[in-house]
Amino acid sequence: MSMTQTASPTIDFAALKQRQQATWASGDFSVVGARIVFQAELLVETADLQSGWRVLDVATGSGNAALAAARRGCHVVGLDYVPALLERGRQRASAEQLSVEFLTGDAEDLPFPDASFDAVTSIYGAMFAPNHERAALEMARVCRQGGRIALACWTPGGFIGETFKLFSRFIPPVAGLQPPVRWGEEAHQRKLFGASAASIAVYPRTAIFRFPSAEENVAFFRTWYGPTLKAFEALDASRREALSRELAELARRFDRNRGQGPIAIAADYIETVITRA
Ligand SMILES: C[S@@+](CC[C@H](N)C(=O)[O-])C[C@H]1O[C@@H](n2cnc3c(N)ncnc32)[C@H](O)[C@@H]1O
Repeated sequence: MSMTQTASPTIDFAALKQRQQATWASGDFSVVGARIVFQAELLVETADLQSGWRVLDVATGSGNAALAAARRGCHVVGLDYVPALLERGRQRASAEQLSVEFLTGDAEDLPFPDASFDAVTSIYGAMFAPNHERAALEMARVCRQGGRIALACWTPGGFIGETFKLFSRFIPPVAGLQPPVRWGEEAHQRKLFGASAASIAVYPRTAIFRFPSAEENVAFFRTWYGPTLKAFEALDASRREALSRELAELARRFDRNRGQGPIAIAADYIETVITRA
């Protein structure tokens, strides 16, 4: 896999991406992925993917959107830079008798010719590539004219956006790096895709994360979700305790049940369907 990047005067993208890859390879994202199957099913319907289409799912993880597209008779490639997650995707496809090709690769350097897919999907995936412009250009490049790019991205002010903001209070982010949740702003997406789009439709959505308590939500993400696990690993004991407490408070702030019974955390995101010009 190539880790090369277009030059930036301030950010060492190659080193940064190695660290990000190690983060996503930690924990086991497939366990978290099992909690967001519904959003993959919804996105492929919003995008109206057609049977027989060739579909690429970028940053597929354990294959949520790839499998959702394959369930609709699409010919699917799922690409990610964590081989262990792709292996989970293969197991899931095999359990459902679905044929999906899972490929190791970088969202910013897609190993496909121009216009080779009818649709490109990415669920909370491409948004984590450090070079936003390059990831967007790559997805647009491999999508044919009239084809669709369908994305799900967390919003900056929603639960996940606030979670990342909290992490950056504990661990300063790389200077000059655009936050991933900018992809959850319509204006940013219009800037990224405007030149390659015939139309852009945006749909505000809310995902719900359900746990018996706020503390169990924190424990779940700390065990399985690489970014949370790595944030805790980087802190000393007292800072870990503070982060744990603040994450639980955040979960309570977004609790749809308002403290009555188990927690139901509302996490806002946007779906975008871009028709390729
Ligand atoms: C939040 S997970 C989402 C996974 C999957 N799309 C889903 O819906 O379950 C983010 C995924 O993006 C992948 N990822 C992040 N940056 C990437 C990059 N530059 N190239 C390939 N995969 C990347 C991670 O390995 C991880 O699997």
